[in-house]
Amino acid sequence: MIVAPSILACDLTRLAEEIRAVERGGAGMIHVDVMDGRFVPNITFGPVVVKACRRATALPLDAHLMIADAEPYIGAFADAGATSISVHVEAVPHLQRAIAHLRERGVSPGVALNPSTPIATLDEILPELDYVLVMSVNPGFSYQKLLPATLDKLRRLREKIRGLGLSVKLQVDGGIDPGNIREVGSAGADIVVVGAAAFAAGDPERAVRSLLEAAS
Ligand code: DX5
Ligand code: ZN
Repeated sequence: MIVAPSILACDLTRLAEEIRAVERGGAGMIHVDVMDGRFVPNITFGPVVVKACRRATALPLDAHLMIADAEPYIGAFADAGATSISVHVEAVPHLQRAIAHLRERGVSPGVALNPSTPIATLDEILPELDYVLVMSVNPGFSYQKLLPATLDKLRRLREKIRGLGLSVKLQVDGGIDPGNIREVGSAGADIVVVGAAAFAAGDPERAVRSLLEAAS
């Protein structure tokens, strides 16, 4: 399992140190939560912050675009150094076009689903994706509690992907901590995003190490 700390929960005055600390702890990816104040009720980072992360680490950078009209910004996030980008099915009406655009730019494409969005919304696009981001909280903020029903959804999606013989990876995001990470893994997560659980206690290296231990 890959642990992907979200910089939304880190001490932003020390961005590079926080990234290096989670890297030492065994993080396999850095997750950047991009919010526009329209699709979600919060405003966070743009491409300049992805670029700053790129200078701080060689780890894959995953941009989670919680923005209403994502396609015009794909090029800027690719230029900034994002390795993978997820767009929300609820926010992007022309998913095939967005996925093709990401592939053209050499970026690994993913699609994110809010907790209340059915997995059937992916039926026509699943074979074209590298990963699905299953939101386990309603997006907008760190420090929320995982919605238990999303784990059943994760299991059903895992089964569906297996049944279709696809190799689409599953990323889960929101409310994951040492107490539930193992269950999230056995429900089918390949990548888990962690905000508070990585950064709140002030020792991100140790926190990521404990998360990886709790997951195994
Ligand atoms: C929520 C974001 C998450 C969030 C995770 O909208 O997409 O990535 O930062 O933070 P925690 O782990 O604290 O829920
Ligand atoms: Zn996220």
